[in-house]
Amino acid sequence: MSHTQSEPHDLPPEVFLDEVHSFEFWFQAVEGYLSSSPYGRDPDLEEEELSESRRDALITTLCNYAVGETAALEASSGMIRFAPNRRAKIFLATQCVDEARHLEVLLQRLRDLGVTDLEQVVERRANHSLLAFRTRLLQFVDARDWEAAVFAQNVILESMEFVVFQEHAEQADPITQQVLSGIIKDERRHLGFGENELGRRLESTPHIRSRLQAVRKELDPLVLDTFEATLEQLGVPRSERPELGRRYLTYVERLGFGL
Ligand SMILES: [Fe+2]
Ligand SMILES: [Fe+2]
Repeated sequence: MSHTQSEPHDLPPEVFLDEVHSFEFWFQAVEGYLSSSPYGRDPDLEEEELSESRRDALITTLCNYAVGETAALEASSGMIRFAPNRRAKIFLATQCVDEARHLEVLLQRLRDLGVTDLEQVVERRANHSLLAFRTRLLQFVDARDWEAAVFAQNVILESMEFVVFQEHAEQADPITQQVLSGIIKDERRHLGFGENELGRRLESTPHIRSRLQAVRKELDPLVLDTFEATLEQLGVPRSERPELGRRYLTYVERLGFGL
């Protein structure tokens, strides 16, 4: 029997990490919600009638999610090459699978909504700040900068997605809601990896804190700008947006990266 089926938190830290960053753990985590839902949804669920303006805003939002998922797919696959140990490489392989699946279900959702020229539409509707974020993330990956890449991807990007997807799922049509709920479960694992990985490094190498603070300072405006645009598309009232921004900051600051 695998350790994860008993009490993973009782295990010594190294054994615990080997367990939760494995395909064994991944299989157990995903089989409940992936096996019975093609493209992340119950196939019998009926499409809700959407007004033209709501449908159009939803398409733009999903296109931007597709940009974020593509960035995470490209970054997590590139990071395998310079990950510092085999456990991290295995975890990133599970993350690549998750991110590719997220991209796939989002593209399928766009097809359901009648989008045919997916590549061009995603490109055309992409938010400039999100594209700038993606460029920066991939630069960290190309520079083999492990801490900055983990921070930008597994803490900043994942925190942003986590907060936005949760907010969106609460008010979305039933199919989009199911698709997002499946994605959120995976993003929680990715966020957990980032926290574990950087939490341990910060304890052993405190000087990386100031380096990561600088990364955060650079990326925060791009994240907050993306936030603003997405919440606008979702019709979240202006008065509620600061609260969502704060939720994002709370996730990032859990690691002690207050500015
Ligand atoms: Fe994702
Ligand atoms: Fe993710």
